[in-house]
Amino acid sequence: MSSVFITGGTTGIGMEIAKNYLSKGWKVGVCGRDRQKFLSSFSGMEDRILFYEVDVTEREKLKAAISEFSRPTGLNLVIANAGIAYEHKTKLPDWDYSYRMVQINLVGVMHTFEAAMEVMIPQGHGHLAAISSLAAFNGLPGVAAYSATKAAVIKLCESFSLDLKKFNIDVTTICPGFIATPLTASNTHPMPFLMSAPKAADKIVNAIEKKKAIYSFPFIFAHIVKLMGLLPRGFYKKLMTIKMFNFSKE
Ligand SMILES: NC(=O)c1ccc[n+]([C@@H]2O[C@H](COP(=O)([O-])OP(=O)(O)OC[C@H]3O[C@@H](n4cnc5c(N)ncnc54)[C@H](OP(=O)(O)O)[C@@H]3O)[C@@H](O)[C@H]2O)c1
Repeated sequence: MSSVFITGGTTGIGMEIAKNYLSKGWKVGVCGRDRQKFLSSFSGMEDRILFYEVDVTEREKLKAAISEFSRPTGLNLVIANAGIAYEHKTKLPDWDYSYRMVQINLVGVMHTFEAAMEVMIPQGHGHLAAISSLAAFNGLPGVAAYSATKAAVIKLCESFSLDLKKFNIDVTTICPGFIATPLTASNTHPMPFLMSAPKAADKIVNAIEKKKAIYSFPFIFAHIVKLMGLLPRGFYKKLMTIKMFNFSKE
């Protein structure tokens, strides 16, 4: 039986990915900080999925959870999905929250991959995946630390995809646009091409199955975002002052 461990698998994208793999008959483990979220999301399914109450910033606790989950079946796939974003986008950052974001969105991915590699290298195969974001491709107003953590995740994965080839470990980075989850529920700005979480999970599972190195979606939005990344920076700065992109408050 194939097995997948998903960090932050109790709501939103992670929860939908977990349900997707459950429907395929995989052994599924998820972690999160709040057991109540797990119980309400997986009501009636608790006996088919393993839950670990772990914060991804806790390196040793996460290692212990992933190691326990992997016994005796091994670990085919880990998905570093846990992440936080800004509820209130402001021109001057909330520094404490930004440092916390780096710990969860970037260091948490490193903790997840470290724990998974400790299982996958000895077993001789595996697949690491991380959820980055289309916000990684350009510095966006009001979300400096978020854009930075997600860009760092892309490069972390790209390097690992080279370093881990000899261990028969694949690496996939997923860059979604706006997905309807609790994370985006409080956004007051426009969210073009907003996609439902089950549809996003379908696309993510499919990209992982195909062992894509990097997968950005929705297709049209991803191309617009990447084109914006090619613009001369002076022009990009002017473009981002128009009202539609005015995400951040004073
Ligand atoms: N929604 C979007 O539009 C969108 C777009 C691009 C990328 N993403 C990325 O996709 C990922 C999932 O986002 P989502 O929209 O599904 O958000 P969500 O619904 O808020 O889910 C976040 C999940 O992460 C868990 N989590 C948060 N901090 C954690 C921590 N320190 N340790 C362990 N678990 C933690 C949460 O559970 P607890 O709170 O109980 O810990 C929850 O299960 C994130 O990395 C996000 O940046 C989302």
